[in-house]
Amino acid sequence: MSRSLTIGPHTSDTPVVLAPMAGVTNMPFRLLCREFGARHSANDGGFFVSEMVTSRAIVERHPETMRLVTMGERETPRSIQLYGVDPATIAASIRVLRELDLVDHVDLNFGCPVPKVTRKGGGAVLPWKTELFTRIVTEAVKAAEDVPVTVKTRMGVDDSHLTYLDAGRIAEEAGAAAIALHGRTANQHYSGHARWEAIASLKQAVTSIPVLGNGDIWSAEDALRMVEETGCDGVVLGRGCQGRPWLFADLAAGFAGKPDRVKPTLGEVARVLIRHAELLIEFFEDEGRGVRDLRKHVGWYFKGYPVGGKARHALATMESLDDLKEKLSVLDWEAPYPGEPVEGPRGRAGHPKRTHMPDGWLDSREISQEHRARLHEAELSVSGG
Ligand SMILES: Cc1cc2nc3c(=O)[nH]c(=O)nc-3n(C[C@H](O)[C@H](O)[C@H](O)COP(=O)(O)O)c2cc1C
Repeated sequence: MSRSLTIGPHTSDTPVVLAPMAGVTNMPFRLLCREFGARHSANDGGFFVSEMVTSRAIVERHPETMRLVTMGERETPRSIQLYGVDPATIAASIRVLRELDLVDHVDLNFGCPVPKVTRKGGGAVLPWKTELFTRIVTEAVKAAEDVPVTVKTRMGVDDSHLTYLDAGRIAEEAGAAAIALHGRTANQHYSGHARWEAIASLKQAVTSIPVLGNGDIWSAEDALRMVEETGCDGVVLGRGCQGRPWLFADLAAGFAGKPDRVKPTLGEVARVLIRHAELLIEFFEDEGRGVRDLRKHVGWYFKGYPVGGKARHALATMESLDDLKEKLSVLDWEAPYPGEPVEGPRGRAGHPKRTHMPDGWLDSREISQEHRARLHEAELSVSGG
């Protein structure tokens, strides 16, 4: 199956997007994914989106946020995900990014289910308020000018309050360049299965811009199957590549019709871990911080590999690059690729949860004065989706 994906002026020969993941898809991880994607693609195997940043933090130019959105030379196009609740602030943040020449593609986050966001009416529960959603996308597109704006959303709040078909039509009319759907409601969080049939319905409803499918892709075969079953124009991949950046090589090969798949030995995984550590140290300009940031990746990298509890624990307390190398050296580098145990679900899972919302949020699709007055709180101290 050979096909490309076009987002505004940018085309990739591989219809794949690295999902924005707070705390994960920073520059070092994006670069690793690109390096693998480039093995079978002239465009690094797709689009690689930043962790989400809040529009307010951009407008206020918080130093940490500005560092998160400053991309490496190797990163083109530069895809930045914004989270916000106020059309004017979103527009202002996009103007800042454009003025500073930091962005080639803006992705808007309407999928975040975390309570501190939805409790105030933000994230995955925002598209319920159709007029507000329309204004955010419209103002974003206007401010972005020739920079394409994409929308990422969930199916809705719960099965009785689905929003994705309206969101798709509104995004299309407002000038969005693509819409991505995670096939879960906010109530589902990361539990159960992503419902790919919703992606197929969205593809039927939205005909003039690419529809991207997201949820539960763990291999290149899954990605090809999602495209086949739903008709979507591309796939967005999150947890499946945690600890497996080489999945982007598999995806690029798969979409190019090649059978090549990366099946790393334990030693090859260890080498990627060292490369990841080096990139993190460079990014944070701080060896301790870089290595500590890598700790959370260790469990993902070694999932399914014969690495005992003691070695995992030792790696979880590593303090320096030499320390990492020493702790890796005791592993059996010749241990072969374990196959299936590496290939299934990984990362966040859990149970369905009732979504917290402002009182009366679901009573109407218009936003009340009272809700509007408190909306800005949905953007304070937010990270992660
Ligand atoms: C650790 C983590 C952080 C995430 N952060 C974001 C985020 O910042 N923005 C966003 O739109 N989605 C975020 N998501 C959701 C993913 O982008 C994606 O929609 C979701 O994981 C489903 O895709 P998957 O099944 O391929 O993982 C996050 C998910 C995880 C697991």
